[in-house]
Amino acid sequence: MTAGSTGKTTRVIAVCGKGGVGKTSVSAVLTRLLSNLPDKKVLAVDADPAFGLAGALGIAVSRTVDQIRNRLIERIQQGRAGDRREIIAGLDYEVLEALEERRNIAFLAIGRPELEGCYCQVNQFLKEIIASVHKAFDYVVIDGEAGIEQVNRRVMEKVTHLLLVSDASAKGLRVAETIQIVAARAVGYEHSGLILNRLRGRDEQARLRLPETLKVLGWISEDDMVRDFDIAGSSFLNMPDGPMIQSLGVCLSRFGLL
Ligand SMILES: Nc1ncnc2c1ncn2[C@@H]1O[C@H](COP(=O)(O)OP(=O)(O)OP(=O)(O)O)[C@@H](O)[C@H]1O
Ligand SMILES: [Mg+2]
Repeated sequence: MTAGSTGKTTRVIAVCGKGGVGKTSVSAVLTRLLSNLPDKKVLAVDADPAFGLAGALGIAVSRTVDQIRNRLIERIQQGRAGDRREIIAGLDYEVLEALEERRNIAFLAIGRPELEGCYCQVNQFLKEIIASVHKAFDYVVIDGEAGIEQVNRRVMEKVTHLLLVSDASAKGLRVAETIQIVAARAVGYEHSGLILNRLRGRDEQARLRLPETLKVLGWISEDDMVRDFDIAGSSFLNMPDGPMIQSLGVCLSRFGLL
């Protein structure tokens, strides 16, 4: 855990897993559950270029970190960027401007993976700024669509909680296992746990061959409400209690997050 300048202890949770297993749904419900805790502030970070989390939280994205980055690169190429101090001050301002705020939730979209050509220094500046922004929050929830290496490279050097999501498929479980191995190198998490999503009851859970290296936090059944909210494009922040919310609550307390 990292203690922010404000004295807060920030828990940084990266939600990762195979495509389509429910990362965005879990991230959105997680944001909702954490933001309901008294006096807690949550930063939700959408690392999916298609803005899945923004949609699930009912937020329209007006500016992304990627756009800020590209504009800075243009200014550097034209020799108009100023010195290091000016660059950092400008980026800091722009990232804060890009935050969308809803009550005690702030939202930041990362945007597209960067174009060819290494502007590592710019990435580093941005990561430092995101790291300083996150200190003002109790929780940071990252919908890590692009995988853990990209989270490390583009969003955050360290996460405290690696939240793996898988469906019942052997492939989903294998991907979760691999992400955990890569994450140990890439982001050095403190806690890691697996949520099994869309299971069809205890029988199915009993049939799964779970890798021993993964710590299972719990399982979520098929939830028609998740489906319906997705179809309607409604904000998960307004979702009434259902299997997803209840089960995720249990998983999170096992993970020491609630
Ligand atoms: N517990 C659940 N019950 C019913 N439907 C679910 C559940 N979890 C997820 N879904 C549905 O599964 C689909 C994929 O979910 P989601 O978008 O959250 O996955 P994802 O891992 O973020 O996908 P991607 O890798 O494309 O970003 C969505 O249509 C969502 O409504
Ligand atoms: Mg997604």
